[in-house]
Amino acid sequence: MGEHLERLRERLGEIADLSAAASVLGWDQQTYMPPKGAPARALQLATLGRLAHETFISDAMGEALERAGEETADLDPDSDEARLVRRVRQEYEKQRKVPPAWVGEFTRVTSLAHQVWERARAEKDFSLFRSSLEEIVPLRRQYADFFAPYDHVYDPLLDDFERGMKTAEVARIFGELRPQQVELVRAITEAGRAVDDSILHRPFDVDKQREFGMEVVRVLGYDLERGRCDRSAHPFTTGFSIDDVRITTRYDPNFLSDSVFSTIHEAGHAMYDQGIDRAFERTPLASGASYAIHESQSRMWENHVGRSRPFWQHFYPRLQQYFPSSLGDVDLETFYRAVNKVQPSFIRVDADEATYNLHIMLRFELEVGLMEGSVTVADLPEAWNARMQDYLGLTPPDDAKGVLQDVHWSSGLMGYFPTYALGNLVAAQLWEKIRQDIPDLEAQIGRGQFAGLLEWLRENIHRHGAKFEPAELVQRVTGKALTPEPFLRYLRTKFGEIYGL
Ligand code: CO
Repeated sequence: MGEHLERLRERLGEIADLSAAASVLGWDQQTYMPPKGAPARALQLATLGRLAHETFISDAMGEALERAGEETADLDPDSDEARLVRRVRQEYEKQRKVPPAWVGEFTRVTSLAHQVWERARAEKDFSLFRSSLEEIVPLRRQYADFFAPYDHVYDPLLDDFERGMKTAEVARIFGELRPQQVELVRAITEAGRAVDDSILHRPFDVDKQREFGMEVVRVLGYDLERGRCDRSAHPFTTGFSIDDVRITTRYDPNFLSDSVFSTIHEAGHAMYDQGIDRAFERTPLASGASYAIHESQSRMWENHVGRSRPFWQHFYPRLQQYFPSSLGDVDLETFYRAVNKVQPSFIRVDADEATYNLHIMLRFELEVGLMEGSVTVADLPEAWNARMQDYLGLTPPDDAKGVLQDVHWSSGLMGYFPTYALGNLVAAQLWEKIRQDIPDLEAQIGRGQFAGLLEWLRENIHRHGAKFEPAELVQRVTGKALTPEPFLRYLRTKFGEIYGL
């Protein structure tokens, strides 16, 4: 490696250390920190975040980047070195365009808005939150304008989460997906074959849930010598290095699915981060390719693996041993159907596989409308409820079960939601390819063997970290651009069988 690239890597390493330190504080905040530690912790996180940001956008970094760029100019553009320089340059140029004054104002407005949102949601009253959002939306439009010219005002927001993805592309994919998914959900609900999932709401000892969850993720391939699992209100994955990637989960003593599928989901994220090439450590390449690619990994393990029949053929007898009084009288088929019950509902995070994306498409349309100005903040509750009726046949009884349910907008996070649905589509597209490459995949899963699958994911996805752009990665691995067809085929096959369609 040349001396200038070496110097660039040293600078990037220091920034990565600051970010990792902030992540440790953030992890602690959500797991073990006593409640009164919050104000001091907020200052500590702000200081570390500011130091990392200032170092990254400094002139010295620009200088190091330029020298490293010259030094690597003749390398293969797909080499790790050339890709690193390219990735850092993209991010550097992007962050330099955002004035510190805007960042200060945005931070101030969103931290206040978050508290207002919490109260509005508790009181189920959108009107309390309206003026906060009326400050956030113009700030978001200003942000987009730092990146003008753009094809669409929503593009710069989307790009923060899904590099290179365009609003028009998402709109095209969702436009194809939505009517078919709405139709499928309607067919399921009209099939008259209601699935009874009351067995999942029996008593399940929390310590036993934890033991079972840990047993499962260990077998899947989550390396617990390089990871751990703690409890938090909202499950998440965080990493401080490739060799320290942690997850959290939550337990409900009267509902089994929450912990089991959250734990598998987060372990899916964690196995991705644990599988990144060590050569990328302490650089921006040591992360997932994008939010959608990351979510494709968690969703694949949670749904394609964790909600499949072969998976439970292997694990269900074990689960029954953990919970003989609650599940001893329940057969595998009843259990399999229960964990795959489809029912349109109000809350996105509780949605099943067949309805989930509809929640996302609704949010995407409203966000695009807000940015374009075709939807006003005042219109939101009504626009939300109208789409819920169109897509899921439901009208929320109040704003807490409708427009106020998600934290994202109060934090100014617009452009994030689409990645959840795109992640589901990526997972299904990858899954079709994996089934071609590993013809006895289901038999392996039925025997509790996951090494073949994890090996495939390591080789094709994980080790590359953020080296490739998300669209490029999907194309390289599956030979096709992202399309909703594999996902629709997956839903139709699985739920067609369960609901006798
Ligand atoms: Co996730």
